[in-house]
Amino acid sequence: MRNKITVVGAGNVGATTAQRIFDKGYSDVVLIDIVDGLPQGKALDIQESGPISSSDAQIIGSNDYKETANSDIVVITSGIARKPGMSRDDLLLTNMKIVSQVVQEIVALSPDSILIPVTNPLDAMAYQAYKISGFPSNRVVGMAGILDTSRFRTFISQELNVSVASISTYVLGGHGDTMVPLIGQTIVGGKPIAELIPEDRLEQIVQRARDGGAEIVNYLKTGSAYYAPSASVVQMIESILFDKNEILPCTAYLQGEYGTSDVYAGVPVVLGQKGVERVVEFKLTEKEKDLFEKSVDSVRELISIMSTS
Ligand code: NAI
Ligand code: 2OP
Repeated sequence: MRNKITVVGAGNVGATTAQRIFDKGYSDVVLIDIVDGLPQGKALDIQESGPISSSDAQIIGSNDYKETANSDIVVITSGIARKPGMSRDDLLLTNMKIVSQVVQEIVALSPDSILIPVTNPLDAMAYQAYKISGFPSNRVVGMAGILDTSRFRTFISQELNVSVASISTYVLGGHGDTMVPLIGQTIVGGKPIAELIPEDRLEQIVQRARDGGAEIVNYLKTGSAYYAPSASVVQMIESILFDKNEILPCTAYLQGEYGTSDVYAGVPVVLGQKGVERVVEFKLTEKEKDLFEKSVDSVRELISIMSTS
C-alpha cells in the first residue's frame, strides 16, 4: 500500500511539492486549498502526467478535509507569501489564523500524522502548529534550514567550482534573516572552508544566503521561491517515510538543547519514522552562540505577539 501525504495550500510551494511527491510514485497525494477549483485543476493536471513520468500514484485536489483522513504526513503551505518590500514577519497574524484553522482540521482526521509546516514566518508557525495540534513535539517539524543550507552550499559551490555534493555544512537558527551558518562545520572535500575562502569573501557569501529569499522575491515581484523550498520538503518527507535517520537542519522544538526551551528554531535533527528522533547538539563558538540566541529571541518576539493578539 502506498503512503498518503496531504499538502495544504495549492499555490506555488504546495503544488510544486505535490508534483515532486507524485513524480516519485511512493505516495498518494491530497492537495487542499480554500480556492474552489484550484487544487482540483492542479491535481488533475499532475495526475495526467503519470503515464509520462511512470507514476501510478493517485493525486486528488479538494476543498474538503475529509479527503485528508489518515494521512501519514501533512505539509502546510497555506497562507500568504512575501511581496517585494515585505519581510517574513509581516505575514505573522494573517498566517497564524490560517495555520491554526488548518491544523485543527488536519488533527481531527489524521491524529497520528507528522506535520511539516512551511508557511512563514516559519519558526513561529511551527510553534503555533505544535500548540494547536496538541501533538508531541517530535511530530511537528518545520522546513527552512534545508533551504537556507542549500542556498549556502550552492553559492560555495559556484565560488570554488566544486560539486555541491562535496560541500557539507549546517545553517541553524531562525529562517533567513537571522540564520546562523556554522562556519567551523563547513567542510569542502575534507577541508575547512576557512582554508579555502578568505573571511571577507565568505561573509559576503553568507549574507547572500541570508538574503536568498529576498533575492528571489525581488526577481519574481509577485511571490517568493518555490522550487528549492519544495525540494527541501521532499528531502524531509523521504527521511521520515523511509526511516533514513538523516541529520538535517530543521525547525524543531527545543527543550533545553542549545541552552533554550519552549521555542522552535532551526537545529540539526535526526529525522526518521517518528519525525524528530533527536536534536543533534554541536559545540558552538561564542560568536555562533550569540547569533543563535539573537535568532531565538526574534522567534520569541513573534510568539509573544501571537499570544497577545
Ligand atoms: P501561494 O500564495 O502561491 O500559495 C498559498 C496558497 O495557500 C494559496 O493557493 C491560497 O489560496 C492558500 N490558502 C490560503 N488560505 C488558506 C486556507 N485557510 N486553507 C487552505 N489554503 C489556503 O504562496 P507560496 O509561494 O506557495 O508560499 C506559501 C507559504 O510558504 C508562504 O507563507 C511563504 O512565505 C512560505 N514559504 C516558506 C518557505 C520556508 O522556507 N519555510 C519557503 C518558501 C515559502
Ligand atoms: C524563502 O526563503 C520566502 O521563506 C521563503 O524563499
